[in-house]
Amino acid sequence: MLSEKIDPRDLAIEKKFRNIKRSLLVLSGKGGVGKSIISTTISLLLANKGYKTGLLDLDLHGPVIPTIFSLEHVEPEESKHGLIPPQAYGVKVMSLAFFARDEPLPLRGKSKVDAIKEVLAITNWGNLDFLVVDMPPGTGDEVLTAARYVRNERTAVVVTTPSKLSVSVILRTMNLLKDLKIPIIALINNMAYLNINEKMIRIFGKIDLENLANKFNVRTCIELPIEPQINEILEIGDAKKLLDTIVASKLKELIEILEVK
Ligand SMILES: Nc1ncnc2c1ncn2[C@@H]1O[C@H](COP(=O)(O)OP(=O)(O)OP(=O)(O)O)[C@@H](O)[C@H]1O
Ligand SMILES: [Mg+2]
Repeated sequence: MLSEKIDPRDLAIEKKFRNIKRSLLVLSGKGGVGKSIISTTISLLLANKGYKTGLLDLDLHGPVIPTIFSLEHVEPEESKHGLIPPQAYGVKVMSLAFFARDEPLPLRGKSKVDAIKEVLAITNWGNLDFLVVDMPPGTGDEVLTAARYVRNERTAVVVTTPSKLSVSVILRTMNLLKDLKIPIIALINNMAYLNINEKMIRIFGKIDLENLANKFNVRTCIELPIEPQINEILEIGDAKKLLDTIVASKLKELIEILEVK
């Protein structure tokens, strides 16, 4: 009991976050809806505007951010004040994948909480304007721990796809954020449509996100297209090209909201 109360990492985490002005948590109810692509694109947009930006990949079971940035063979350097996140295109990147390599991370319950606390305590971000946090899906231990320790000025975006199943589970995520008093600045409907010959085709049908947004006082809903180019960019491993996508141009609205806040 006592050891839980005086975990020295708590102080280390608090100290690290003193130099990070704001955090943006990227969440979803279901997996595979585009959180990592969206977190990456938001980070690149912020860095491109000159903000000191960090991207923290907290997905314990499928950390893909180092792969997106072609950093999978890089090791974070050690410094007096912790591990220095490798940098790509102006974004400082930290991920549990740097420690796990291709091995599975057999984490459960308390060990998940420990892994997250550890990465928050040992990462030396330096001064940041924004830390974007790519969260694991759902409302489990990882999300609760991250919400507990990422305690600076924080906001969230919630990502879904236009499927009834995905929407039904974001309700839980949105309620959790409400309980935690983390403001949701936007709801993102990813892969909402496909543009063919300038026609908008809603392959998966339409969902009523506006209604949900109103219920939770979320002012902004952003629809993103299915953009086959994204997967080509990932294959060549040139993340900076994500800045040239329609997804990036639509996400600029989110950057403007962050700048006004
Ligand atoms: N707008 C889009 N257009 C085309 N492909 C997309 C789009 N958004 C995401 N994808 C693709 O969908 C897949 C899942 O995306 P991503 O890994 O970002 O989801 P995730 O929510 O982070 O998943 P997980 O919950 O497993 O972490 C990836 O292959 C990605 O390239
Ligand atoms: Mg992901």
